[in-house]
Amino acid sequence: QMLKLSLEQIEKGGYEHFMLKEIFEQPKSIHDTMRGRLLVDEGVIKMAGIWDHLERFKNANRIIIIACGTSWHAGLIGEYLIEEYARIPVEVEYASEFRYRNPIITDKDVVIAISQSGETADTMAALKLAKEKGAFIYGICNVVDSSIARITDAGSYTHAGPEIGVASTKAFTAQLTILTLIAFKLGKHNGNLGNAEFMSLIAELDAIPKRVEEVLSSTHEQIQQIAKDFISTTNFLYLGRGYNYPAALEGALKLKEISYIHAEGYPAAEMKHGPIALIDENMPIVIIAPKKGHYDKIVSNVQEIKARKGKIIAVVNKGDRQVSEMADYVIEIPETSECFSPIVASVPLQLLAYYIAVYRGANVDQPRNLAKSVTVE
Ligand code: G6P
Repeated sequence: QMLKLSLEQIEKGGYEHFMLKEIFEQPKSIHDTMRGRLLVDEGVIKMAGIWDHLERFKNANRIIIIACGTSWHAGLIGEYLIEEYARIPVEVEYASEFRYRNPIITDKDVVIAISQSGETADTMAALKLAKEKGAFIYGICNVVDSSIARITDAGSYTHAGPEIGVASTKAFTAQLTILTLIAFKLGKHNGNLGNAEFMSLIAELDAIPKRVEEVLSSTHEQIQQIAKDFISTTNFLYLGRGYNYPAALEGALKLKEISYIHAEGYPAAEMKHGPIALIDENMPIVIIAPKKGHYDKIVSNVQEIKARKGKIIAVVNKGDRQVSEMADYVIEIPETSECFSPIVASVPLQLLAYYIAVYRGANVDQPRNLAKSVTVE
């Protein structure tokens, strides 16, 4: 027992929990995901899994992304990325729904499974079904040689390193990094992404680990303070638009998984079709509002919340005025192109969930009722 404890402490590398360690590893894990793939000076993205099957992707009628949990949220962002940059239609489905609804799949479809563990039963079964129907199946897994990695026709590993905390953090940002590389590579190849834009996007992507490093160091202490104010809160809303709508879903999922506070993510504009009825002075609302991407629309959503006295925790770019003036708490993230904003915005939301859970005395690395990989349906 004693030996086990000290081993565990070594593995945690000085952090109190694996989750915190993994949150702080993200500058490195994102870099590792890109290592050997993103060659900025040569203006090349090297991905054997895509390169060897470029024609399958190019001729695909559509791409269907299947996943569960956090990986499904990464898939939703993948839809925005691939549709914007490669202009290939994308659908994203929960693996458990896909497999039981007799989906229409043909040999013209490419099915991408996203799975940290590579062992999720529903994702595996959905992939087998797609394979039987003739689709080309592609895996985005973190665990090398996992079951999903082995049955796919091709794939890309995320190389985020082992993720021990049950709530996924660094695997999620690694999945986003892979999906970004795929979208840019396909877009470049099929001519939808011009060379100048491609070059500037990959240079920005290459610097994302630095942006994540900045956001970790600039928000870490502040978020501990913010978290203290929400220890007894029973509900949370998370809102975002565009690329940051799935980031809002993921922020809410992190909080409910580890703190057991009920949290809902919503596309900000959908608020008026339901959640707005819940807003009063006791409802904290995390709103992701970077400059690029529907900012003016977000401003009016924030005004609606303010009018109903909701407590606003705003994730904004440095130097933001309009949203910040209305917010009760302001968390600043570096400005990026819209497509990278879910990566930088997710980091403070991971920290917020982490510290609220820690202050509530929850077991953040092993939350009740949850498993790291769900190998039964
Ligand atoms: C479980 C984990 C989540 C994970 C989900 C999908 O619910 O607790 O963190 O997102 O499974 O797992 P996968 O390994 O397929 O990404």
